Amino acid sequence: MNGPLKVALLGCGTVGSAVLRLLQEQSGDLAARIGRPVEVAGVAVRRPQHHPDVPADLLTTDAHALVTRDDIDLVVEVIGGIEPARSLMLAALESGKSVVSANKALLAEDGVALHAAAAKAGVDLYYEAAVAGAIPILRPLRESLAGDQLSRIVGIVNGTTNYILSRMAETGAGFGEALAEATDLGYAEADPTADVDGFDAAAKAAILASLAFHTPVSAADVHREGISTVTATDVSRAAEIGCTVKLLAICERVTGEDGNESVAVRVHPAMIPTSHPLASVGGAFNAVFVEAEAAGQLMFYGQGAGGEPTASAVLGDLVAVARNRVTGAAGQGPSGYADLAVRPMDETPTRYHVSLDVADKPGVLAAVAQEFAQHGVSISTVRQTGRGDAATLVIVTHSAPDAALSATIAALREMPAVRGVTSVLRVEGLS
Ligand code: HSE
Repeated sequence: MNGPLKVALLGCGTVGSAVLRLLQEQSGDLAARIGRPVEVAGVAVRRPQHHPDVPADLLTTDAHALVTRDDIDLVVEVIGGIEPARSLMLAALESGKSVVSANKALLAEDGVALHAAAAKAGVDLYYEAAVAGAIPILRPLRESLAGDQLSRIVGIVNGTTNYILSRMAETGAGFGEALAEATDLGYAEADPTADVDGFDAAAKAAILASLAFHTPVSAADVHREGISTVTATDVSRAAEIGCTVKLLAICERVTGEDGNESVAVRVHPAMIPTSHPLASVGGAFNAVFVEAEAAGQLMFYGQGAGGEPTASAVLGDLVAVARNRVTGAAGQGPSGYADLAVRPMDETPTRYHVSLDVADKPGVLAAVAQEFAQHGVSISTVRQTGRGDAATLVIVTHSAPDAALSATIAALREMPAVRGVTSVLRVEGLS
């Protein structure tokens, strides 16, 4: 059968309209690459009158009827959110259509059920665009690195927060001022909660960890802290020790003292050395740094959002699932065979940078050091700046369970000799 493969497009916002346009503009090349033409057979939207550029005979408000139509081969979901996207994707998979999605929230919440539906129907579910926009990272994890053992992924996977933190570092602005600028320039949404509080990055971290460690990880498993508490002082303290502040999505394999392996997945702001490849990822760009036993260190960098960059990832998936249709074979879905436990944040090893305003008197440093020792936290470096009433101690710890570090900070706040804890941030990548 050599007729066109028929595509249903769910959603026609910034990404959907770019997908539609590129599908039309590149139809000849795509047909050659796939081995059969691809034709958009319907576009489901809520308000057809808002889409005058889409041929009226393609538009429908009945997305369910569209995805279950007998002539549809492939479904592209770019609606976002949990419902109706979940019901529509399940209906599409159950009726034998392969699905391409850009929906990180849904994949991070219900990836296991969606993959099971795809496997049962013998069809594909691909979602490269869900993590880091245009950057190819899921296919490399699923395929190119499938023969290696991954130990760690550290990603800057949210462009809005990276833009805000970059501006704070460049201008000395506080969080509120940098957010206002990001909103004015259109980098931040009117309601920036999903980006600023780390929900968007946590969903992406769950997807990365699931693929990297062959273990189901959902967004609820991810420890999440956003950037609204990052201060101009944190950013300047970072610069003083040759670091920069980034919102990191960290997925790592941790071996406990009992020898058992688990995965730790977390999103939080952290200081990283300016020599680390991720430190030079500025503005709204994204990057994912991967450490694998045989491959060593790899870095994937590019545009993490925007209509055309995201559409590029969607179309790459569309070509892959269309080729599978042509050859009559579904690709292998991700495996969860390792099924490692997810390590609680309290037990996850981290390092802290702490800045304290203290009284400059004999015995203060010893008392502060004693508090770290009592919580089993080893100090890596101590630096004092200022004297007399303006003395500041800057301490970087060695790695310790996160609960021990946070308990140390709570105890320091209660010490009479400590006038104030002026900056606390985790540190990643310091030797
Ligand atoms: N809002 C995201 C960002 C892009 O700021 O990077 C979509 O996940």
